Amino acid sequence: MRKSFLPVFVLTALLFALGGLEAQEVNQAAYDNIITHYAARNNFTSGTISRGDIEKILAAGVRAPSASNRQPWHFTVVQNSALAGRIVRNMPDGNILIVISSSGDGRTNGPAILDCGLATESIYLAAQALGYGSRIYTGPMNTVNSQLKAELGLPGGYSAVALVRVGRVQRIDASSAASARKSLGDMVTYK
Ligand SMILES: Cc1cc2nc3c(=O)[nH]c(=O)nc-3n(C[C@H](O)[C@H](O)[C@H](O)COP(=O)(O)O)c2cc1C
Repeated sequence: MRKSFLPVFVLTALLFALGGLEAQEVNQAAYDNIITHYAARNNFTSGTISRGDIEKILAAGVRAPSASNRQPWHFTVVQNSALAGRIVRNMPDGNILIVISSSGDGRTNGPAILDCGLATESIYLAAQALGYGSRIYTGPMNTVNSQLKAELGLPGGYSAVALVRVGRVQRIDASSAASARKSLGDMVTYK
């Protein structure tokens, strides 16, 4: 290499290296989304969710990791307010439920429940990243699995694991809405 090209080459290589580091090591928005989420409850309001946003939220569920990449889930979007109201009470117009069901029953296909939990979390966080409120529910699962599987069109052999309610929310400060968490010192061990 000619001596006059050396500084240009070194500078270019340095810029590439720094650019790469920045892209790989810091995604502050993604971290903030994980740290500042909260489970909306009383601040859900009425208002529609576009089909495009529903599909973006579902895409986050589909993209969740799963054991051996089995993807043992099915997602049921409940937009019908009469049906949704039989699963979760007092929902303002436009709130939707996304039921996550698993192809395993937790005994024969243990990791499937965890896989579905990861998809549930991804859906929950994606909704908030897009500016909606969301809340995970497992309370209604007995009702869903004993009475509503057919009406919801769950695939044969699948059972509901959890659901995520998504809706528009009145803005409130996220940190004041989230409940307190145990302190790190009480639950982390370093060895
Ligand atoms: C697995 C799971 C099941 C939950 N089931 C219900 C439920 O049945 N009903 C309900 O009102 N909230 C339910 N929640 C919401 C939790 O109560 C809420 O996420 C928790 O209190 C933390 O809220 P915060 O993040 O706003 O502090 C559930 C959450 C999880 C993760």
